[in-house]
Amino acid sequence: MMSNFWRTLSKPIFALAPMEDVTDTSFREIIAGLSDSRILNVLFTEFTSVDGMNHPKGKIRVAERLFVSESEKQILKQKNFKLVAQIWGNKPELFHKIAREITEEYDFDGIDINMGCPVKNVVKNGCCSALIGMPTLAKEIIMATKEGTHLPVSVKTRTGLKTHDTEVWISHLMDTKPAAIILHGRTQKQQSDGLADWEEIAKGARVRDQIDPEIPFLGNGDVMTAAQGEQLTVKYGLDGVMIGRGIFHDPWFFNPAKVSPSVTEKLDQLVLHTRLFEKNWDGKKNFNILKRFYKIYTNDFPGAARLRAELMEAKSFGEVYQIVGNFQGAR
Ligand SMILES: Cc1cc2nc3c(=O)[nH]c(=O)nc-3n(C[C@H](O)[C@H](O)[C@H](O)COP(=O)(O)O)c2cc1C
Repeated sequence: MMSNFWRTLSKPIFALAPMEDVTDTSFREIIAGLSDSRILNVLFTEFTSVDGMNHPKGKIRVAERLFVSESEKQILKQKNFKLVAQIWGNKPELFHKIAREITEEYDFDGIDINMGCPVKNVVKNGCCSALIGMPTLAKEIIMATKEGTHLPVSVKTRTGLKTHDTEVWISHLMDTKPAAIILHGRTQKQQSDGLADWEEIAKGARVRDQIDPEIPFLGNGDVMTAAQGEQLTVKYGLDGVMIGRGIFHDPWFFNPAKVSPSVTEKLDQLVLHTRLFEKNWDGKKNFNILKRFYKIYTNDFPGAARLRAELMEAKSFGEVYQIVGNFQGAR
């Protein structure tokens, strides 16, 4: 049965952005656990290559990006959070095939197509943000994906290649009736420099208004608090916002009622995150990936900098538990 969850969400819609090496099942479970279901609505996987998924040997590694642990599943269900698998590539037939596989073999609520990533390696192969310059192919990809699944197919993109070309590009996308559009207010060329241009995002939303106001339109770029997200949604005529790096400044981002979490609460999350990462990935992913997260939980308390420095030297999960235990014991 066709069901488009995007149209059932209360507004403003808040989504946690897809972020490579960040939004794996462990981190999503942490954020889902800390978030208020009246604020957060949708989470995304890391971007996953359809070519990689189509490769008999490569598939095992690539499919790790789509892994959802049982404990994450439970918490998403409890809180009624939706989970979207993000895919990328440049061959419509592979989008079709992999969309079908994802629908049959997994349990996602939606599929999103990455038309925003500006990284050289993907762009030179005509993938992700490069598709902004190839609207005919971009539309074929969206249509092929839609034909491969009954799940809602959204698109996450940017405002243009070298300069903003928001209105023309969004009207191309609207031709395919995507389930939702998420627009990051920077061009491909800008990468993550400067500030996201919310006036451009508003232009995109107005094109949507003219063509089909029912299609949810989210803005993305530099949102640092939930209150700011609500204001931007109203001011720029959007349905909601997507949050990427803001989550690094505050893992309680989607729970604004939580004022100043205690040291113990922060360190409990650090340990839980480590335990989930160990349970999900021990022997599969590099332990050092975890260290990038430790600064999220070790700030704004006496001794935080020293604790962080010790954690950066840790060589195993066991050492992390010991360092945090010693720190707590000495307080
Ligand atoms: C570490 C990192 C990894 C990212 N990986 C992805 C990705 O896999 N897919 C994607 O569409 N965007 C990816 N992005 C872009 C973000 O989803 C988002 O569009 C961008 O960071 C701007 O939003 P923000 O200012 O709220 O962070 C990534 C960004 C960061 C910082």
